Amino acid sequence: MKTTLFCLILLLMINTSFSQSFSLPNLPYAYGDYAPQIDVLTMEIHHKKHHQAYVNNLNTAVKGTKMEGQSLLDLMFYVSFRSDAVRNNAGGHYNHTMFWEIMAPPASQGLISDELSAAINRDFGSMDSLKKAISAAAIARFGSGWAWLIVSPEKKLMVTSTPNQDNPIMDVTKDRGIPIIAIDVWEHAYYLNYQNKRMDYLSAAWSLIDWGVVSKKYASAINDSLLLEIEKDNWPAMKDFHRTMAQTFHPSESGDLIPLRNRSGELLAKAILLKESRPPKSLDSKLILEGLQNLENKCEEVNELVEKEAKDAVLIKKIKEAHDLFHIVQGLCHD
Ligand SMILES: [Fe+2]
Repeated sequence: MKTTLFCLILLLMINTSFSQSFSLPNLPYAYGDYAPQIDVLTMEIHHKKHHQAYVNNLNTAVKGTKMEGQSLLDLMFYVSFRSDAVRNNAGGHYNHTMFWEIMAPPASQGLISDELSAAINRDFGSMDSLKKAISAAAIARFGSGWAWLIVSPEKKLMVTSTPNQDNPIMDVTKDRGIPIIAIDVWEHAYYLNYQNKRMDYLSAAWSLIDWGVVSKKYASAINDSLLLEIEKDNWPAMKDFHRTMAQTFHPSESGDLIPLRNRSGELLAKAILLKESRPPKSLDSKLILEGLQNLENKCEEVNELVEKEAKDAVLIKKIKEAHDLFHIVQGLCHD
């Protein structure tokens, strides 16, 4: 009896932990410790209400789907294949977590490393120029969004900005890389104290940046294999083909051939564009080019079958071959 009860409790705990896979991180300091740069009420509402809402909405968005249990990084990296709810709330959770990590009251801040200092001088000329670049990106961001300092796939420092809750890890973002500074420029981050004076808020936020933490993030980012993954993933023609393949093949798995019959010509056109596109540098190999030619041939066969009004079973067999081949090619790209 005791064993059964123990198992039941354990199962309940496992279930609970799966359904609540993301949680609100604690702030490293008390809400009032960021004043006067950011007032206590803004910090409390921002953390307890806004960030908590992103966490709750993210858990709801993935619950009961194939995404449940996936890491935040995986959800964001392939966000172009996800719903808006996942895009907005995974971003909201990641971005705010980083914002809290890189901020500290001035007396508690660490020093910048020699490596990061040298990289800033190399890529921006001076710390002052970097500050101007981040402020300019934050001011130019129309509406809500974020300003970033990132490490690019070429291991250079770069300033960029994103709308809403997007971030540079996401595959919907033009300038991709690993963020080491995040500045929230949503009005909820500053409006109580600064109203419409975004520049005043930015100057204050700048003085809260903990360069000790940012230096650690820089050291970790330049050695992170994620940079290579981003470089390999920067292939719009591959994304475009993948999306059309997913939208035509997956319905066919459950017997719905209509999307494939309507879009086989588009699938072939995208296979041709993919073959003619330039793969990211690290992937430009003979093997991949051969794979892309084979993929185009296979899509041509699919399209011919559609034009001849082939039977469902024949068409399903052929699109499955094309889909399998696509994943082989995609696998080659990710080796
Ligand atoms: Fe925010």
